Order: sequence, then C-alpha cells, then structure tokens
Amino acid sequence: MVDTNMRLISMLGLLTIIVIISLLFDYLRILKRPVRLGLGVAVLGIVVGFILTLNAVLPANHFYGPVFSESRTSQKLVALTFDDGPYPPYTGQVLDVLKERNIPATFFVIGQNAAKYPELLRRIVAEGHQLGNHTYNHVDLLKLDRQGIIAEIEKTNQVIAAAVGYPPHVMRPPHGFRDAVVMDAMAEKKLKVIEWSVASRDWVNPGAEVIAERTLGKVQNGSVILLHDGDGIAAALPREQTVAATRIIIDKLLAQGYTFVTVDEIRKMSEE
Ligand code: NI
Repeated sequence: MVDTNMRLISMLGLLTIIVIISLLFDYLRILKRPVRLGLGVAVLGIVVGFILTLNAVLPANHFYGPVFSESRTSQKLVALTFDDGPYPPYTGQVLDVLKERNIPATFFVIGQNAAKYPELLRRIVAEGHQLGNHTYNHVDLLKLDRQGIIAEIEKTNQVIAAAVGYPPHVMRPPHGFRDAVVMDAMAEKKLKVIEWSVASRDWVNPGAEVIAERTLGKVQNGSVILLHDGDGIAAALPREQTVAATRIIIDKLLAQGYTFVTVDEIRKMSEE
C-alpha cells in the first residue's frame, strides 16, 4: 500500500523521464563504469512502471489500498455480481432467473442508467439483492482528478438513494482500474472497493456456453463472479448470452452444493 497521492499516470511519466535520461547516460558513457548503471536504471524503471500498472488493473492486488476480490473460506459460498445496468430488458431477465431459483446477487449500477430506470433499482432491492455504485458515466477513474472522481461517486449515490431510500456502501471502479487517489477518495466517501476473482469476458458476447464454461472452470469457495447485465453507457450490445449463462452457472453450482450470497455476506465470511 502506498501513502502517496501521486496518480499512476504521473508516476509512469516520471519513470519514463528517468528511463530516457538513464539510456542517454548509458549512450553517452556517463554512467557506464564499472557496470552499465544507466542501462540498469532504465531496465529497473521499465519494470517498476509495469508493476505499478499491473497493480492498478489487476483485480486482486492491494498495492494502492485494500480491495475485496474474493473470500478465503472453506464453505461452498459464491457471490454473483452484475455490472453496468440497469439495462432493459436484460436486467429484468437476470432478476427473473435469480427469482426462479431464489438466489441473491449484487448489482453494480451505472448512475446515468439508474437515473433512467429507478423502478429496476427498486425491484433489485425488493427482491433481496445488493446495490453497488459503478460511477455515473462509467469512466476510467484513472483519467479523472480527485474532484471528478468524487463527483462520479456522489451523483450515483444520490440517484440510488432517491430510488431506494439509501445509498450503497460498496463500489466497483469501471474495468476495476484504481490508483492511490481513487482509493483515497473511496475511503473518504466510505465506500468499500469491490473487484472480482472470476471473469469470463461475457461483455464481448462469446456465447452463453463459453461464458458459463469459463466461469465454472474458475469458481472455488469464496469466489466473486463478474457478469454484465448492461453494456456501459453505450447500451448497444445485447446481454441475452449473459442471461442464459447465468441460468447455467447457477444450476451447475447449485448441483455442486454451492450457496449464493451477496457481496456483503461473502465479505463477512473471510477467514483470516
Ligand atoms: Ni462496467
């Protein structure tokens, strides 16, 4: 965990300058003795930049602050999460599948979609599911300043609270991307950052069977499964494959003895 409020992009910029200067020193033979120090620093700079970037984009890394991506538990528990909705008719279809099997899930909604379909938010809550904040415009938070990040979060919390009576206390950054400033802003807004441990790239619609197969192949006790009932703010791609895959995933996991819980419930199960 880093305590600096430096943006990832600033750190990468700084590293790029260090790498260029080091290479120049190496080329000019200024830092060449006794070993090629310039070249060594340049290689180190590239490696550090790579590690900093991986930590901003990989869902299970804690370098910029604590995120939740799965539970360490010996119990056969699993959490389904759906991003980017509400998005008719698919959000309703997902809710129908969950209702048929009496399964709770967690929906990370986009603020501007939520503003359009508050009745879907109310249905999500009325049917026992959890709501999370997925920003207002589904923007990469690494590209916004602190004020912009806070605005994305607050606006979405307001829309959710207006629809269901209370704001969520969990959020998922678009694409999972975060850095020190994003994490610090979430701590200030008292939002837990939720990532995932099982993704199937359902957002590119590879086929319901493929989505289900990829998901089932990775699920273990305490997994948090990422699926999409929406399509960002574009709302262009259909999500019927995800709806069909959800049905397969639930039935297969129920047959294997898994119990489905919300993100809040699976967070409590961490045995550490
Ligand atoms: Ni998303």
